[in-house]
Amino acid sequence: MIKIAVLVSGNGSNLQALMDANLSGEIVGVISNKPEAYALERAKKANIKTVVIEHKHYPTREAFDAVMHQQLLDWDIDLVVLAGFMRILSAEFVHNWEGKMLNIHPSLLPHYKGMHTHQRVLNTGDTLHGCTVHYVTAELDAGQSLTQGVLRVGLHDTVDSLADRIHTLEHLIYPQAVEWICNGTIRYLKNGQVLYKGQQLEQPIQFCKF
Ligand code: GRF
Repeated sequence: MIKIAVLVSGNGSNLQALMDANLSGEIVGVISNKPEAYALERAKKANIKTVVIEHKHYPTREAFDAVMHQQLLDWDIDLVVLAGFMRILSAEFVHNWEGKMLNIHPSLLPHYKGMHTHQRVLNTGDTLHGCTVHYVTAELDAGQSLTQGVLRVGLHDTVDSLADRIHTLEHLIYPQAVEWICNGTIRYLKNGQVLYKGQQLEQPIQFCKF
């Protein structure tokens, strides 16, 4: 069974969706860089181990990442799931977990990497928006995308309404992507190729909510 660690910094609604999803992998532990993260309460309620590693107690990003890395090794983790984890990871950490670390980003990557995606979508007047589950690589929000949730932007949508609607989609696609890794539907090969049902994954699998 695949052993999963979830890294969080805040509310943890995606962690909740993962815990509720009856994955065929096991969520072994949750790591937060913030002691006040509500995600920690959610994990404790579900009897999942929690560890707080406060980045501000470490002199460098590398020193902080080394402690997280050791914790993941101690738990014998196969898959690291970033769920609202608000720290940039060092190149070494990303390299160590290449092909074994996922993130969810609130845009239809490769569009709108980085922050304030809902505002940027509204400013541009896009009619479609969404969220993407992708492998983490050293370049920000640039690893192979696995799944996307797509919605149509309404005339009356605001940053807040888009944030709500995107969250609902995230709670659908993140557990699905993680489950596909747990049950072998998605596989990451040593050469960086990603297979979906044995075939090279060219485009992320899309779920549309119109
Ligand atoms: C999500 O919207 C995700 O797209 C972004 O961080 C947010 C985390 O939300 N990476 P939550 O803590 O899971 O509720």
